[in-house]
Formats: sequence, structure tokens, C-alpha cells
Amino acid sequence: MVIMVSRSTVFRFLSALVLLFFLAGCGVPLSEHWSGYRPGQGAEPSTAADSPAAAAKPPAPAAPDCRRVKCVALTFDDGPGAYTEAMLKLLDEHNAKATFFLIGKNVERHPGIARDEVAAGHEIGNHTFSHQDLTKLSLAAGQRELRKTEEAIKKATGATPTLVRPPYGVIPKGLKKSLDVPVALWSVDTLDWKTRDTKKTTQAAEKIAPGSIVLMHDIHKSTLEAMPKILTDLGAQGYHFVTVSQLVGNPKPGIAYGTGLHPGGKG
Ligand code: NI
Repeated sequence: MVIMVSRSTVFRFLSALVLLFFLAGCGVPLSEHWSGYRPGQGAEPSTAADSPAAAAKPPAPAAPDCRRVKCVALTFDDGPGAYTEAMLKLLDEHNAKATFFLIGKNVERHPGIARDEVAAGHEIGNHTFSHQDLTKLSLAAGQRELRKTEEAIKKATGATPTLVRPPYGVIPKGLKKSLDVPVALWSVDTLDWKTRDTKKTTQAAEKIAPGSIVLMHDIHKSTLEAMPKILTDLGAQGYHFVTVSQLVGNPKPGIAYGTGLHPGGKG
């Protein structure tokens, strides 16, 4: 049997085939239309608010609610020093925020490191200018120690310290009352300053509980070397690493804090 097909019919048939192949090969899959916006793909129309700087720096994630989740405030005293930058890198890798209690003298020596601490979103506290025992100074001399440090921090970083931690954890009542920021002590002392031992520092960190404020020092190599395990272990237990102010939740001047809010606690 012979089927008679006109030339124009053959042409239309072939054209349709070519068009089909073209669509299959180069067309946009249907799913693409339903996948919504994906970062880096098919840019959304930019507006005046979408400056390159705003696009490069996403907004910081909100701090966790320490009344509902396990939080710990890691604190580092006596810097900035030789191991601080490495500590900042480590904290960043673990998505951890911490509080650094700075010595004014060291801020003047390492202003760039203090700036990096602020830029990374850590909290900055005042630890006096020359690590003085404030109970051995007059009120005026104690205030001078703190004021000089505040000025050094402001000059180096543009930020104002939000807490005071007195060296040795002691502060005269009169001086404490005269402060316009709260005092932050601690609830877990890792004794890293005394043992200078990585393993002992790691073991001491096992005392950490929800709401702990942990005393450490970023001026010791042994502390830096203890941090990867401490951060990994606490992270695996579901801890969020927050600043002291985030942990305590709106701390008030004139009061000394040693622990913070925690799930099931009284705050
Ligand atoms: Ni100290």
C-alpha cells in the first residue's frame, strides 16, 4: 500500500520534530518555574537598598533565647594577646560568641586585635588598665583604671565596654555602685591561668552547666589548645555559645553577675 504524502506535510512534520528536540534540549524544565528564588540564580531585580555592602553582609542571626535553650558564656581575660586571633578564628568556626575582658595596656599594644573582636560580634568588657587589685586602690584610682581602659577600647574599636570584670574577682562596694555598667564575675573557673595545662583545662570545662559563665584566658597557649575539644563537646551537647549580656539577659549596673538564665532555672 502506498500512502501519498504531500511535500508540505513532510515539511510540517519535520519542522515539528525539530521544534520538539529543541525544546527538550534547551528549554527550561518545568520544575524550574516552581522552585522559587534561589540565591545566586536568576537575580531578583535590585533596588536602591541592595547596595553591594548590604548584599555581602547578611544580618547577624538573632541571639538564642537562653530561657529556652542551653547557653554558656565563655569569657577570656587579660588580652588582647598573642593567641587571640587564633581564638577568634576557632570561635568563628564553631559559630560561638564570647566575651573578652580586656586590659587597657594590652589594647594600646594590640588595637587591631581588639577591633577584630568587636567586628566578629563578641562582647567587650573592661578588666582595668594594668590589672590592679581594685580593693587596694582608692575609689578615685580605681575609677581612673577603668576610665583609662574604656578610653583605650573606644579609641581602638569605636565600641564602649559593656561590662566590668575586676581582676581577681574583687571590687570595693563603693566602686561597684559608681559604675554605669554591670560587673561580670564567673561560675566556672577553669584554672587555666594556674595549671597552664591543656588537658586540665579541658577537664575543668566538664563542670560547665547551662547558664555557666566560664573564666578562661586567651593569653595562654594551653587554653587555645584546649578550645577545640571544649567547643566540640559542648556543641555536641546542644549548647549555644553566647555573650555574658545575652546569657544574663539585660544585666543591670551596680550588680555583679556570676551566672545567667537557663532552662528550668529561676533566671
Ligand atoms: Ni585577669
